[in-house]
Amino acid sequence: MALKGKTAVVTGAALGIGKAITEILLQNGAKVTLLDINETAGKTLKEALNKQYGEERSLFFECNVESEEQIKAAFQSTVDTFRGIDIVCNNAGILNEKQWEKTVSVNVMGLIRVSYVALEYMNKLNGGKGGTVINVASVAGLTPVPACPVYTATKHAVVGFTRAMAAASSASGYGLRFNAVCPSLVKTDLIASLMDNLGQFSHLAYATQCSSVQRAMKCYVDDDPSSTSIRLAHVLQPQVSPPNNTRLQHKLYIWRKSFNCL
Ligand SMILES: NC(=O)c1ccc[n+]([C@@H]2O[C@H](COP(=O)([O-])OP(=O)(O)OC[C@H]3O[C@@H](n4cnc5c(N)ncnc54)[C@H](O)[C@@H]3O)[C@@H](O)[C@H]2O)c1
Repeated sequence: MALKGKTAVVTGAALGIGKAITEILLQNGAKVTLLDINETAGKTLKEALNKQYGEERSLFFECNVESEEQIKAAFQSTVDTFRGIDIVCNNAGILNEKQWEKTVSVNVMGLIRVSYVALEYMNKLNGGKGGTVINVASVAGLTPVPACPVYTATKHAVVGFTRAMAAASSASGYGLRFNAVCPSLVKTDLIASLMDNLGQFSHLAYATQCSSVQRAMKCYVDDDPSSTSIRLAHVLQPQVSPPNNTRLQHKLYIWRKSFNCL
């Protein structure tokens, strides 16, 4: 999809990955509505974007993905201003194993809530233009992270929801594509506060990586060298050289490349 003239809505847009997504969309000609609960960071970013791209290219709304009312108001204002929505990026997410219900609420329920509102506005059968919904999952959506079981569960849910919605939209003729991206570690506030937000399994944060390497090393010296290099590559770069290369994992590769992580 060429981005010039398109309109995107990005959740959790004020900081981190959401901010990076917003910037790449604007750089490529799209108009962007930024949604975030952090009003200060959102307004600061909006002012910077006004200077760089012009005031008319973006909107900011203080919006919590846990509130259907706030989401609907933001979508309606976007349509009123930009005359339609082509892209929705469900990026807002948290990692907090101590407040695990909140993590489920934001990462799963919030993402589903925004997706269903997107469907109302974009579904071709409702008079919408169709378009694309991109959900920010994580490598934790593809493989377990023992130190954060709830975050892992939420991101597996995002991957499952995305797959089911893609199939449902295709079968029903909604004209909407659903895709998930699964980033590995990206240097943001979420990672900076990681150790404070891990719960009862925080002791596994480092142990897991070491045991994975031990297992891979053992494979390296075993009798069957044919499987060894694949397994070792999987440990070192699980998202780049997985044993079973699926389309989703390929998208992850593209995502990492776009963030210069390779
Ligand atoms: N940083 C990583 O290593 C990494 C890796 C894989 C996936 N992710 C995912 O990427 C997404 C963005 O993460 P990040 O690292 O940029 O985090 P971040 O904490 O730097 O930024 C998250 C943004 O979302 C906003 N937000 C939080 N809760 C919200 C809510 N209820 N409603 C609206 N906005 C809300 C925050 O205010 C913040 O601006 C998340 O879904 C995260 O799970 C991050």
